[in-house]
Amino acid sequence: MIEGKHIILGICGGIAAYKSVYLLRLLIKAGAEVQVVITPSGKEFITPVTLSSLSGKPVISEFFTANTGSWNSHVDLGLWADAMIIAPATASTIGKMANGVADNMLVTTYLSAKCPVFVAPAMDLDMFAHPSTKRNLELLKSYGNHIIEPASGELASHLVGKGRMEEPENIVKAIEEYFSTSDDLNGVRVLITAGPTYERIDPVRFIGNYSSGKMGFALAEECARRGAKVTLITGPVALKCKNKNIYRIDVESAKEMLAEVEKAYVDSKVAIMCAAVADYCVENRAESKIKREGNDVPVIKLQKNPDIAATIGAKKEKGQILVGFALETDNELSNAKAKILKKNLDFIVLNSLRDKDAGFGTDTNKITIIDSAGAEKVYGLKSKAEVAKDIIDEIAERIAK
Ligand code: CTP
Repeated sequence: MIEGKHIILGICGGIAAYKSVYLLRLLIKAGAEVQVVITPSGKEFITPVTLSSLSGKPVISEFFTANTGSWNSHVDLGLWADAMIIAPATASTIGKMANGVADNMLVTTYLSAKCPVFVAPAMDLDMFAHPSTKRNLELLKSYGNHIIEPASGELASHLVGKGRMEEPENIVKAIEEYFSTSDDLNGVRVLITAGPTYERIDPVRFIGNYSSGKMGFALAEECARRGAKVTLITGPVALKCKNKNIYRIDVESAKEMLAEVEKAYVDSKVAIMCAAVADYCVENRAESKIKREGNDVPVIKLQKNPDIAATIGAKKEKGQILVGFALETDNELSNAKAKILKKNLDFIVLNSLRDKDAGFGTDTNKITIIDSAGAEKVYGLKSKAEVAKDIIDEIAERIAK
């Protein structure tokens, strides 16, 4: 998977820099072409001679090469690379990357890079646990960078805790895994619903729910990354799509969402119903703002909204894959299983509001996938991006069959 790939290996000044030599060797052995970019303090830990001998290329550290005055173009490097790995990534470099402090070649290259970026932090446990580091890593995640979590164990300080850079073999595995799925959905049309729906009461008020849309957007990004043609039909959310190959349609109510879903479903291979659709809309919607004066308390009459998943489930053709979500508070498994039948789903993704850090608004989720034959797969607590990968892996497996 790595063979022939252009990889930038960014090395910062930390004791784990010695492991970067092994990482470089593994990448070269796997057939990659590697350009090392090292920070000035990185050179205090490992010499450029060792690195250039292994990579077969001069190591870049400064903006200009001292003896010739030639300029090292971070822009060209950023365009050349298929992936950039920063290992070890120190707290300082993570902070600079998160905030655009472009004062060395490594950070300018990072800011110019168009390719996927993998960050393997390495630092002492208290530095890693500091809110500043946590916030900066969250920022990097929000830019779409992949964080390769450090392991726990004995650190250079002899303290024991989380902060050891992940072993080179596992960093290579993470990159191989990334490339192995990079086009397995090439050209597959995927329809995704996301976010809440808003059901109008009057021109200034609505009935809504707490859905942030993060899970649906993470699914759209994962599908697009793997080459799918994605139509994302979303209720009102404060999110942006990163991948240009996502065709986004914004809607407000369940009925508007249904109309768009029905149009897009006809030529979709896969449909993932991730939206938290309001079950009811307002029957006696007011055309002008409901006022407070007078003694009467307004009565809002509700009527049932269409069930979008069930509507398209009833029209599902052979070869189409329909996936639903169930966010439950109790009787989770039996409720989820009943929805598979009712909506004619191929599988359902269950998350329980009883699980801490799962469900609405959070950046993490904990899911169980239940298929139409009743088989269950339970997953641990993960970021929504990782959960999206697990769900799309399940779909890709079915397509491959
Ligand atoms: N769904 C839908 N249209 C609706 C309601 C739900 O497409 N009007 C989809 C959701 O996107 C989700 C699945 O159906 O994939 C289950 O949603 P949920 O709200 O849990 O199910 P409901 O059928 O509404 O059941 P209840 O609210 O009673 O639990």
